[in-house]
Amino acid sequence: MSLVKNCLNQARSVLVIFGASGDLTQRKLIPALYKLFQKGRLPETLDIIGFARRPYSDASFRELLKESLEKFLPEALDLPMWESFARRLHYFQGNLDQPVDYDALNDHLQSEYGSLCNHFYYLATAPDFFETIVANLGGCGLSEQHDKGSKVIIEKPFGNDLKSACTLNEFIHKVFREEQIFRIDHYLGKETAQNLLFFRFANAIFEPLWNRNYIDHVQITAAESVDVGHRAGYYDHSGVLRDMFQNHILQLLTLTAMEAPTSFNATALRNEKVKVLHAIRPIAITDVVLGQYEGYRDEDRVAPDSRTPTYAAMRLFINNWRWQGVPFYLRSGKALPQKTSEISIFFRCPPFNMFGFDQNCELPANVLSIIIQPNEGIHLSFATKLPDSYQGTQAVNMNFYYSDTYGDEPLPDAYERLLLDALNNDASLFARADEIEQSWKIIDPVIRYAEDPEKPGPILYPRGSWGPKESLDLIAANGGCWQIMQGSAGICTI
Ligand code: BG6
Repeated sequence: MSLVKNCLNQARSVLVIFGASGDLTQRKLIPALYKLFQKGRLPETLDIIGFARRPYSDASFRELLKESLEKFLPEALDLPMWESFARRLHYFQGNLDQPVDYDALNDHLQSEYGSLCNHFYYLATAPDFFETIVANLGGCGLSEQHDKGSKVIIEKPFGNDLKSACTLNEFIHKVFREEQIFRIDHYLGKETAQNLLFFRFANAIFEPLWNRNYIDHVQITAAESVDVGHRAGYYDHSGVLRDMFQNHILQLLTLTAMEAPTSFNATALRNEKVKVLHAIRPIAITDVVLGQYEGYRDEDRVAPDSRTPTYAAMRLFINNWRWQGVPFYLRSGKALPQKTSEISIFFRCPPFNMFGFDQNCELPANVLSIIIQPNEGIHLSFATKLPDSYQGTQAVNMNFYYSDTYGDEPLPDAYERLLLDALNNDASLFARADEIEQSWKIIDPVIRYAEDPEKPGPILYPRGSWGPKESLDLIAANGGCWQIMQGSAGICTI
């Protein structure tokens, strides 16, 4: 019987994962692929091939992945399900920098799957290998499989600054056309981040208020309680500005600030996001506070005099008709008191207060919060009359929690959605070349400042605090404070 799997009746697909024995594959990709399989969403015609240097056989590779599933799946592994999933998993031993190994991979794919198969390549390696892999794929013709062309899925970080991101884009474009490239930002795969679009554009009552006439300011927080842990070696060259701001935080900002796309497709959606990025006014350094948690310099593989910020807070403005003059306050950091990612829209105070206070804003302003994680949901705070008072008011919340409505089953991991979209050739939730470059353009000057030894270094903050007290100065100008809504009706954290 021919080894060529049936390509005539049904086009087969292969997903080749480069860096197949690495952390990302085990922690994220395989669990996501397994879940898709379990839900019956993984295309029936798809095989997954791990490519790495270590001498695994199919059997020992499957054993490795079984162990990682047992470790990283939230629930116990369903063994019969695993057995049928495992039949889709294969291993190909090769060196990332050896062109002959790509030739061998090509021969293997041709003989096993034939020339009509769709190829997807996932670059789950350290970014230093991206160019090598792309060049080698191009060199042996693996970038162009039949008429549609192969697809390449690339993990972050995409470049290290504007210049390197442009160089990388240029390099990849020599081998793959833009429509073949899927650049991952896992925040875009989070249910709640996607829901922001539905919340804004599948409802008619919020969008009329979603502008400078009604909104006082916007806060975006992505706080983490963990420190840099075992990733210190990577992190010390990255810092919070590259690790979180250039990608995840700016993505959340664009989803919050964009105009309604004319349709829900990759081009229209990404065009609108890019317009927001273009409209962001250059960030004033006086509008930035950088911090580093105490003890960071003692972490293994961190330079003893490291200036790397593990916390940043900043204020920025968007120069367009919708947002002119509305400050966006962004912050993210490690070793903070809790993990929470949220976007809060602070509305203006009522124009006139008839309840006996001197100042308009003695009344609590309405706040709409989209809780990205954990405890995903949406809160709307509004003022009520305090019962049994003459004219006392109190802010209360109208809450929607995913778990209340959809049950306690955890929301799908972002990689499930992103992998499926890539396999279905839908790039809506992936960053386009111009989007990446424009984000770097926004963050680069702040990075240059942070890395300039002539400039003051980051401000130390105690682990478990909400970062340097100086970040309050940024927001106090607005008469506000940094707030979190998760688990509370809006408490000032600093
Ligand atoms: C990654 C960063 O992109 O995002 C990590 O490299 C960070 O440093 C992580 O911890 C946060 O993602 P999430 O989904 O846990 O908020």
